[in-house]
Amino acid sequence: GGAILAAGPAADAATLNTALHQLVDELKPMPAEVEGRTQAFELVQAVLLARWPEAKVHVFGSSANNLSICNNNDVDMTLELQHLPDAPGAKAAVVEEMGRLFMQAGVKDVLLLPKARVPVVKLVAPTTNTRIDLTVNNLLAIVNTKLLRDYSVIDPRLAQLVFVVKHWAKRRQVNDAYRGTLSSYCYVLMCIAHLQHRSPPILPCLQALPPTHIRTIGRWNCDYHDQVEGLRGYGAGNTETLGDLVWSFFEFWAWRHDFNNSVVTIRTTTPVSKAEKEWTKRVGNERHLVSIEDPFELSHDLGRTMDRQTTSVLHKEFERAAGLLRDDPEPLPKLLEPYRA
Ligand code: CTP
Ligand code: MG
Repeated sequence: GGAILAAGPAADAATLNTALHQLVDELKPMPAEVEGRTQAFELVQAVLLARWPEAKVHVFGSSANNLSICNNNDVDMTLELQHLPDAPGAKAAVVEEMGRLFMQAGVKDVLLLPKARVPVVKLVAPTTNTRIDLTVNNLLAIVNTKLLRDYSVIDPRLAQLVFVVKHWAKRRQVNDAYRGTLSSYCYVLMCIAHLQHRSPPILPCLQALPPTHIRTIGRWNCDYHDQVEGLRGYGAGNTETLGDLVWSFFEFWAWRHDFNNSVVTIRTTTPVSKAEKEWTKRVGNERHLVSIEDPFELSHDLGRTMDRQTTSVLHKEFERAAGLLRDDPEPLPKLLEPYRA
C-alpha cells in the first residue's frame, strides 16, 4: 500500500529498538549528578528552615518523578508555608525575602522574579553548580509531580519514551516555554496521553479510576487513583516496543493530531475539544494554537506559550522526526542532531 501515509519505520525494527534502549541507558543521570541535586536540596532546606521552622521544603519536577535525564542540573523546589494569605503580593514578598536570605548565606547567583505568574527565586548552589528554581506554596506542582511519578511506576515504557522525547526536544530546541515552545512537563503529558491511547492501552487514566488520593488545592480537585503497585503490568497486553512507541509518537504529532480542534489531556480518555473549553479565541497573549490541558488546574492551557511562528516550528520538527523515522534506515543520528539556525 504505497498510498498509506505512514506505513512504518524504514529501519529494521529490532535494530532501532536496541539503539533506542542504549540511548535511554546513556541518558540516565550519573550518581554524582543525583548526589549534587540532593546536596543542593539540603543547602536550600537548611537556609529556609532556619527562618521558617514550621515550613516544609519539597522537591518537585523531574528530580522527584523518576523522569530526569542526565546533564540537566535543574532542580525545582518549593517552600510550603501553612499560613500564607492567598493575596497576590504574599508569595512575591516571600520570594524577595528568600532571595535576601540566600544572598546573606553567600550564594552569589541569585535572581529574583517576584512578578512572574509563579513568583520564583533562581539560584545556583555554590558547591555543585546545581541550578535551583525555588517557589512558594506551589502545591499543585507537588501533586502533579506525584501523579507523573505514579504513572511512571505502572509501565517502564513511559520513562523510556519520555527520555527519548525530552532528549530530542532539547537537541532540537523546542523545549523552552520562555521562548514560546513547550516545557518538559508538556512533553511528559503528551507521552502519558500517547500511552493511554494505545490499543490495548499501556497506561490507564488514573483520574478516571476510583480515587484513593483525595486532595483539593484552591478550587482544583486533585483526586485520583494512586494505588499504582496494583496496576503494575496494566499494559502487559500491549507488546509494543520502545521503537514502536517512538515511531507512533512522532507520527501522531506530525500527521494525526488535530491541532486546530483538539486538546491534549491525560485527565480523561474521552476526546476533549477546544470548543468545549472555550479555548478557541485569542485572549491577550493566550492564543491556544496548541492546547494541552493541565491535569488538575483545568483552566490552564499549557500550550498557551506557543505563537504562530513557534507552532509552525514545532510542527515542522515533528514532521522532520516522523519523516526520518519513516524514510531513513538509520534515523537516530539525524533525529537527534543539534538544531542549527
Ligand atoms: N510545572 C507546572 N506547570 C507548568 C510547568 C511545570 O506545574 N506549566 C511543574 C510540574 O510539577 C513539573 C515541574 O514543574 O513536573 C517541572 O517542570 P519541567 O522542568 O518543565 O519538567 P521536568 O520534568 O522537570 O523536565 P526537565 O527534566 O527537562 O527539567
Ligand atoms: Mg525541571
